[in-house]
Amino acid sequence: MTTREQRKDDHIRLALGHPVTHSSFDAVQLVHRSIPAIKRSDISLETPLDSLSLNFPLYINAMTGGSKWAGEINEKLAIISRETDIAMAVGSMHAALKNSELIPTYRIIRERNPHGKVFANIGADVPLDLAARAVEMLNADALQIHINAPQEVVMPEGGRDFTDWLTNIEEIVRTIDVPVIVKEVGFGMSKETLEQLYGIGVKTVDVSGRGGTNFIHIENERRPKKDQSYLSEWGQTTPVSLLESQPFQQNMTILASGGIQSPLDAIKSIALGARAVGLSRAILTEVESNGLAAAIQFIETFKAHMIDIALILGAKNLDDLQQVPYVLSPELESWQRQRKLK
Ligand code: FNR
Repeated sequence: MTTREQRKDDHIRLALGHPVTHSSFDAVQLVHRSIPAIKRSDISLETPLDSLSLNFPLYINAMTGGSKWAGEINEKLAIISRETDIAMAVGSMHAALKNSELIPTYRIIRERNPHGKVFANIGADVPLDLAARAVEMLNADALQIHINAPQEVVMPEGGRDFTDWLTNIEEIVRTIDVPVIVKEVGFGMSKETLEQLYGIGVKTVDVSGRGGTNFIHIENERRPKKDQSYLSEWGQTTPVSLLESQPFQQNMTILASGGIQSPLDAIKSIALGARAVGLSRAILTEVESNGLAAAIQFIETFKAHMIDIALILGAKNLDDLQQVPYVLSPELESWQRQRKLK
């Protein structure tokens, strides 16, 4: 097994083993109103997303590919996304771009879900020609570009030069003919990051905040001397990242992921301005612990419960959900004030 394949398997194993004990969404309370005045069949949460339309504002977010185990997981995730009619992203495709023998561990997603929405995934260090090849490899409907500087720095073998990221992203956004989603990997985004991305023409971002999968923790666990564990609270939580995104929500499509554990976390994300919500660790845990049938049921229930919450809130669609009033914890309100987000 190569170092890269070993790393892929370590990431899966450590993400599965890392319990998440509380939700960063507890700091946001939706305001209950007693008369919803709609019926369940009035509700449609269809989401226009750049030029891509999602039937439902939920997707399986980027995780894996590039090893035997990763290929088996991708096959199961593809079946889940097909059976539940939600979009799905693959994990970073660097391995397949470097070694064509590994392409089947990604392409299995398109094979198992030929008509579904599939997102390709590369890092921001990948130039335009390889980005185009990644999209082509999966006949992808969109391209995610991940930005993961803290993870790279904590990995001994990771990148240390980020000078080409903005220019690569700009060129890809300008040239490639599918929607581009720039995403974090669990460290969240700030208004300064969004300003930079907006400035180079990025229209869609996934803020992917702290609160779920934690790559500083995972990378530290991969080494005997866990010497950078003091960084494990680095970054903004998903609710904080969504507050940071509010000045941009008129002009950019904001997606949320990072620590989404329940349908209520998902609806709170939408109330804070997200247009759709991504799950990684939650679905990985479900499928690897309880199997394919249970994971399909998990997503079906998750979707049904999101609609139940929309019904209680009297929200017929995504725009209505984004108008739902909420109250922030003192800590979040202080962040909002200090950062002059209002
Ligand atoms: C990830 N994530 C990720 N993201 C990405 O853009 N490319 C990738 O290759 C990976 N790899 C990866 C592997 C594993 C095992 C996990 C669990 C996650 C990050 C993922 O897409 C997401 O941004 C974070 O995991 C936060 O969401 P959750 O896990 O808290 O729901």
